Amino acid sequence: ELKKNTTIIVLGASGDLAKKKTFPALFGLHRNNFLPQDCKIVGYARTKMDGKEYLSRVKSYIKTPTKEMEEQLETFMKKCSYVSGQYDQDESFIRLRDHLDDLEAGRPENHRIFYMALPPSVFTTVSQHLKKNCYPDRGIARLIVEKPFGKDLQSSRDLQKSLEPDWKEEEIFRIDHYLGKEMVKNLLILRFGNEFFGATWNRNHIDNIQITFKEPFGTEGRGGYFDDFGIIRDVMQNHLLQVLTIIGMERPISFSAEDIRDEKVRVLRGIPAIEPKNVIIGQYGKSLDGSKPGYLDDDTVPKDSRCPTFCALAVYIKNERWDGVPFILKAGKALNEQKTEIRIQFKDVTSGIFKDIPRNELVIRVQPNESVYIKMNSKLPGLSMQTAVTELDLTYRRRFSDLKIPEAYEALILDALKGDHSNFVRDDELDASWRIFTPLLHYLDENKEIIPMEYPYGSRGPAVLDDFTASYGYKFNDLGGYQWPVQSTAPHKL
Ligand code: BG6
Repeated sequence: ELKKNTTIIVLGASGDLAKKKTFPALFGLHRNNFLPQDCKIVGYARTKMDGKEYLSRVKSYIKTPTKEMEEQLETFMKKCSYVSGQYDQDESFIRLRDHLDDLEAGRPENHRIFYMALPPSVFTTVSQHLKKNCYPDRGIARLIVEKPFGKDLQSSRDLQKSLEPDWKEEEIFRIDHYLGKEMVKNLLILRFGNEFFGATWNRNHIDNIQITFKEPFGTEGRGGYFDDFGIIRDVMQNHLLQVLTIIGMERPISFSAEDIRDEKVRVLRGIPAIEPKNVIIGQYGKSLDGSKPGYLDDDTVPKDSRCPTFCALAVYIKNERWDGVPFILKAGKALNEQKTEIRIQFKDVTSGIFKDIPRNELVIRVQPNESVYIKMNSKLPGLSMQTAVTELDLTYRRRFSDLKIPEAYEALILDALKGDHSNFVRDDELDASWRIFTPLLHYLDENKEIIPMEYPYGSRGPAVLDDFTASYGYKFNDLGGYQWPVQSTAPHKL
């Protein structure tokens, strides 16, 4: 439940993450009355500015298209204040503590939620100073942390070790914001709340599974950060692997956080390290018309960078349910569209009465335009026995047209306020996920002769991509040029 007497402290309050995600999400929660009534929000960062300037900055991060929202923003602002200080000095954190003590004076409890929207370089020292100087003396403490959680298994373990003396696992909330997305949260319900999915969810019926992440923009402005990480660490080891884990896990005993996370760890431990032979990598060049820059044209990127901005790879789960079924993860920047989806392709139906009838597919569209649809064969109405690919289609915009889908960060911050760990990454889960990716990452880092394949900005990715997915059994069906009718909301003309 939500605790009264809670203060949220956003460290790194003037940074990009706080600006784009944290403050808008806090405002979203405030607006919908999900913040504890008396909740205070304290920003902390190095930038020197007074309270007034800080508030006008925070305001500029938040869009208020209506009069009502403008008013709500004013009441939100009353909760906010700011302290500037260094990330590595006791005096600074003592000032932060004094400010917190003032705000909390007279309260019977002082629960403190520390949200670390910080670069990894200051992560450890800030968490130590918080423990030493700002840990609540009469309330609970929670530490919300953001990726990157290290760069490989060893550095992730080192980071974890640096937290351990000060913070208990139950106090730590590791964000993977994909776990806060509505459709990702729906996966457990779809799988375990529907007998027809449950019954076919295995190697006997499923041929291959693709999990795809596409973005239509490059690393513009973020090249400095990105080049140290690359697409595999940026979105695959975390976001896409999380999705894979939920698709692959066994039924948890309950919806409790530890029951869910126990099953996630179990399935991750059944995944062998990714083999380089099952991987292709790419890096975007200029767009075909020359209007968009290539990755290497970014000034913040070294001219000879081999950093992948695209990757496709196949993962296997060695257990009774999944043995032999490839999970193909694909992720890329500067592609032709924005889309995150899961595509489960079923096996061929028994041949004989049909010739070349396409496979069923279940597609779960995470974003944009959340939807779940099944590509299903049906008789084409009329006097022949011709078949047609049709769809069973749950498009949220149509089916739930008057419901608002919350932002991932709203959902996650609310969970952290409630103390619910279900949608946060546990320490052993993080360890298991790095174990799967680390050998590949080291192999790519060390073998300087491996150069990513170039693809044009705005394209579908490297030219070999379709051959790659086909080699794992994926059959692209272009019979009749089927396309999911994204925009069809028109009623039938009969
Ligand atoms: C972040 C990555 O974790 O996720 C970004 O660092 C990426 O590179 C982003 O753009 C994608 O998140 P979303 O919610 O826009 O799909």
